[in-house]
Amino acid sequence: MKYVIGIDLGTSATKTVLFDTDGKEIASASREYPLYQPHNGWAEQDPADWYNAAVETLSETAQKSGVSADDIISLGISGQMHGLVMLDGDCEVIRPAILWCDQRTGKECEELTEMLGREKLIEITANPALTGFTASKILWVKNNEPENFARCEHILLPKDYLRFKLTGDFATEVSDASGMQLLDVPGRCWSEEVASAMGVPMSWLPRVYESPEVTGHINEEASKLTGLSESTLVVGGAGDNAAAAVGMGVVNAGDAFTTIGTSGVVYAHTDGPVIDPLGRVHTFCCAVPGCWHVMGVTQGAGLSMQWFKNQFCAAETLESERTGDDVYKITDGEAENITVGSDGLLYLPYLMGERTPHLDPDCRGVFFGISAMHTRAHFIRAVMEGVAFSLKDCLEVLHGMKIEPDSMLLCGGGAKSPLWKSIICDVFDLPVKKIKAAEGPALGVAILAAVGAGIYPDVASACEKMIGGATVSGTPDGEKTALYNKYYDIYGKLYGNLKGSFKELRAIM
Ligand code: XUL
Repeated sequence: MKYVIGIDLGTSATKTVLFDTDGKEIASASREYPLYQPHNGWAEQDPADWYNAAVETLSETAQKSGVSADDIISLGISGQMHGLVMLDGDCEVIRPAILWCDQRTGKECEELTEMLGREKLIEITANPALTGFTASKILWVKNNEPENFARCEHILLPKDYLRFKLTGDFATEVSDASGMQLLDVPGRCWSEEVASAMGVPMSWLPRVYESPEVTGHINEEASKLTGLSESTLVVGGAGDNAAAAVGMGVVNAGDAFTTIGTSGVVYAHTDGPVIDPLGRVHTFCCAVPGCWHVMGVTQGAGLSMQWFKNQFCAAETLESERTGDDVYKITDGEAENITVGSDGLLYLPYLMGERTPHLDPDCRGVFFGISAMHTRAHFIRAVMEGVAFSLKDCLEVLHGMKIEPDSMLLCGGGAKSPLWKSIICDVFDLPVKKIKAAEGPALGVAILAAVGAGIYPDVASACEKMIGGATVSGTPDGEKTALYNKYYDIYGKLYGNLKGSFKELRAIM
């Protein structure tokens, strides 16, 4: 039997999973690392933490599996998108990586829009200038840290930095590169026009591949550190959402999924580059060669629950330590006793600004309608419902583009909560489906690795073989949906009412 590995470089942890080429999970390991927020709205990580986590999880996984290194034929990497890693001429990291959820680049987005014109920018990159994307981060370094910009010789995304350390190759692939705002998304190649307008030499940009293509193999140093063989191939891989899509078999038009990870995403596969003229959802190349996807993003999905738990659920955390139960199982149990709509408590999950549909780095989280009768359990449920409303905003934009999925696959840490799943089901008014395999992005890039190594001829047939079919895990309850619709109407008005106040607040900070 031959084996493939998927590495998922997430925002809170890196997870490495080894599968056989039938898609059966054999062993896995994960390592967490810190996220630094030196200022309100900033988010940074140390790329060395990612590499250490990858090395440790690769060796742990290989050891646990007992599989011979020679039988691990290929490896794929998935990762948090958009992050900026800058390397100097000696290939050393210049400054901490600026992450996807960092919101410091509002001014640089305006600058980028002025440089090319909004229409042209959308025509080439399929998206308006966004604070989350890599291009505005590059301009921020240029404007604010000219000494760092002057030292830069290479620009890499988080997972491509890992690839560089594991293989020595400067490479990326179309799905993740789409989120840099330097790619000609319809043409699937770098845009010299955007790069030169920004003052970014083409030599800084890694070579672009399709996601299942082989970009290199494990180098001597990584082989020594991990126990992997130098003959193990490394394929392009994919950004975390495109990878999750492959891992769930979302590879044909009409297929869609929602993920509740740190961020939340509503993702739909498309055969061509369908673009929202208002730029509220992203259009990116997907990991299936020659195809694209559209996705809406909520910045603070799982992040909202994690933040609430960290700040306000000390009692639940203690109980979890005492009983060994997952803390989110305990918070779920409390929120289950609260009725639909949390007795009039609404939550706007804009802890890190918002992308879909507002594209506003300055908005912030809100609890609305607090009454003296509300308990912590109400707040927990309101957070889950607020995130679901925010994801419904994404779905509504897709509907406006005539993308109308008739069911929704659900994945990410939040999907493990039966309560959150049923809230999504009722708020979306759609049947929710799941697949047996739990490792969305890691399995997705392992599938790409199997295709790259020639085990399967293409991504769709590899998915058929390596993923079991999807089963319906929830259907909407009409009464609850009707009630949620009423709350959603009010939720929808709150942002508009507060928009000016968010800007005023930002101005005095
Ligand atoms: C997608 C996005 C997030 C990150 C973090 O545009 O910013 O999904 O990839 O997971």
